[in-house]
Amino acid sequence: MGFIEEIQRRRTFAIVSHPDAGKTTLTEKLLLFGGAIHVAGAVKSNKIKKTTVSDFMEIEKQRGISVSTSVMGFEYNKYKVNILDTPGHQDFAEDTYRTLSAVDSVIIVVDAAKGVETQTEKLSNVCRMRKTPTIFFINKLDREGLDPFVLIDEIEKKLNIICIPVTWPLGMGKNFRGVYQLHTDKLYLFEGEEKQRVQEPIVIKNLNQNGLASLVGEVLANKLIEEVELIRNVFPTFNRQDYLQGNIAPVFFGSALNNFGVKELLETFLEIAPSPGTSIANERLVNPEEQKFTGFVFKIHANLHPQFRARIAFIKVCSGVFRRNIPYLHVRSGKLFKFSNPTSFMASKQSVIDEAYPGDIVGVHDTGNFKIGDTLTEGEVLHFKGIPSFSPELFRYVENADPARYKQLAKGLEQLTDEGVAQLFTHKMNGRKIIGTVGALQFDVIQFRLEHEYSALCRYEALPLYKACWFRSNNTKQIEEFKKRKANFLAEDKYGRDVYLADSAFSLQMAKENFPDIEFFFTSEFN
Ligand code: G4P
Repeated sequence: MGFIEEIQRRRTFAIVSHPDAGKTTLTEKLLLFGGAIHVAGAVKSNKIKKTTVSDFMEIEKQRGISVSTSVMGFEYNKYKVNILDTPGHQDFAEDTYRTLSAVDSVIIVVDAAKGVETQTEKLSNVCRMRKTPTIFFINKLDREGLDPFVLIDEIEKKLNIICIPVTWPLGMGKNFRGVYQLHTDKLYLFEGEEKQRVQEPIVIKNLNQNGLASLVGEVLANKLIEEVELIRNVFPTFNRQDYLQGNIAPVFFGSALNNFGVKELLETFLEIAPSPGTSIANERLVNPEEQKFTGFVFKIHANLHPQFRARIAFIKVCSGVFRRNIPYLHVRSGKLFKFSNPTSFMASKQSVIDEAYPGDIVGVHDTGNFKIGDTLTEGEVLHFKGIPSFSPELFRYVENADPARYKQLAKGLEQLTDEGVAQLFTHKMNGRKIIGTVGALQFDVIQFRLEHEYSALCRYEALPLYKACWFRSNNTKQIEEFKKRKANFLAEDKYGRDVYLADSAFSLQMAKENFPDIEFFFTSEFN
């Protein structure tokens, strides 16, 4: 197969959801279809349901043993599918946001009974910001849930995106009988009481004429006829280009647990979802079809063997072919690195590879050289964009609790924040270090890891803040005045950029009003 075909057959995506909507179940069902796993339950160990640090560390240990679950690659028909895993716990949302920088599209799972939840909204915002093509899978139709029209309306209003139903449910809860695929006129019905088997689809060109009632009963038949007519009148027809540009989102209904609606989702998804596209670097646009290899680190997985601090850096290939044992330029350090054991993640096994194509994820061993966002090339100086830091939501001062081990603490904080576990700021006035996270659990994880991996002890002190905002302005007078007035609320991030530590939404609002020429940003990348 040629280089271009290899690129075009790749589908690199993530499945995300508010916890408990069914992301893990859906992932598992897709892997079963792809033959990547053979028993249900194989993906479960990946979940972090409990919230104590020891549970988290236990799961990390398990994950360390099988890091392969970070990327799940398999072949399906002519496609090479790469599903990038994201943490199940919302305290690790930042990890999820970063993973979204490495995907070409996203499937968002929504619980039919709960509708759009907080995490759905945050994740969708990140996808909208990046214009990532998005598909919604409305799950758990086997339970009583909200009316499908209400669900679609909620997605459109809360997530500010136009939805196009691709399948439509026939009944719900106890009466859930199947789904109707709108563009092919195929009706997929359950078979048997257990709702575990699906009949061969029945093509019904004209719902009014074809004895639909004898198949599903008059009540459901009439309801479906009415609803399909309404859908065809109200919703625009699906246009792939609009979907690829992130302007519309196809919607599927089903039940991941019952394996219902999943195959239709997978097959339509593979057909319409994008293959790897152009990546944006500060210097220029990078086309996947370029001959020379480029890629970036979007994730670092630590804790494989805590005593050796072994880490795996995950590289997304953006262009060209990545090859084993070829020296590549690590742009930030200017050094050349060769990888003798790069791994790919196929069928839930890790294996050493000789080459990888755009859209693929390669795992390389790292002894502390890589940071999230680092670029690798064949010599060109490039810096890929789209891997911003997001404003943390929780902040604490971090103090050294063992004066003899100051260096260990500094090193530990440096490396853990390179991995993206949390963000580190330095207060401008008092020089104190501040850790910012999106979830409370990370503070415990950091303390635990500092102690066990770096032999360093830390203590926290509460710092009630609302957000850390990056800011800029061409009006130097306003910037100077702002810095003078807010001297107590200024810090530097790890890269020396100024951030404003807003202690409340009100303070931020006042700052915006008093300094109208200053722009404030909740993400570190705003050019
Ligand atoms: P998550 O990764 O998004 O957090 O969700 P996950 O797949 O773990 O699903 C959360 C719960 O919802 C699980 O039940 C799962 O079995 C259930 N679930 C997923 N899809 C469906 C569906 O289509 N219908 C119904 N009725 N339930 C569904 P649990 O009891 O929390 O876990 P488990 O004991 O079943 O593993």
